[in-house]
Amino acid sequence: MNEKKLVGEKAIDYIKDGMVVGLGTGSTVFYTIYKLGELVQNGLSIKGIPTSKQTEKLANEVGIPLVSFNEVEQIDVAIDGADEVDPDLNLIKGGGGALLREKIIANAANTFIVVADPDKNVTKLGAFPLPVEVLPFGIEFTNKKLIELGLKPHLRQVQGNQFQTDNGNYIFDCRLPVITNLKELERELNLIPGVIENGLFLGMTDIYITLDRDKDNSIVVRHRKNV
Ligand code: A5P
Repeated sequence: MNEKKLVGEKAIDYIKDGMVVGLGTGSTVFYTIYKLGELVQNGLSIKGIPTSKQTEKLANEVGIPLVSFNEVEQIDVAIDGADEVDPDLNLIKGGGGALLREKIIANAANTFIVVADPDKNVTKLGAFPLPVEVLPFGIEFTNKKLIELGLKPHLRQVQGNQFQTDNGNYIFDCRLPVITNLKELERELNLIPGVIENGLFLGMTDIYITLDRDKDNSIVVRHRKNV
């Protein structure tokens, strides 16, 4: 059974004709985008805003019409995956390096839907290293500031080269200290001048779609408490 496909396709239930849809990045939302492409071929009228070059390419391949973020009045729904999801639906994102645009789109959307297989569910965020997108300029200084926060930053490499985001920046994957106040950490990260954005998505998830392995992998939909 393909768990990512199950949760990814379930998100389609929330898409209606005429919507502007934020398209996340990764192997789970891939199935949402692929299915949306099929529906568009069958007459669904939506406009997509991709969160990465990878997703832009996929959306073009499956025939989803795209629109520039600056041209729309609002984003109705954004759908995206996650690297970790805690019981309060806080997330770590950015494993694929698309966190900056993902966070902007999630923030702008009226409804932010997260799709993830049960392996992503954790009691506490932090086993997955927190991605932090930084400006290449002054990277050693930024590294020092991250260490001062108690983090263990590791500059992301791909095949021996520095990983570069779609925005031309670098990523530090950061091990968190065992006891961490996430709100406080987010605030402190945002105070470091060279930090562009971090992969903590706190209090942003409106709807979470996952599976319950104890119940025959039935789909579980959780809503943000005040929604
Ligand atoms: C991309 O940068 C990430 O935020 C992804 O959304 C996250 O890594 C989930 O990806 P998968 O669905 O491939 O696990």
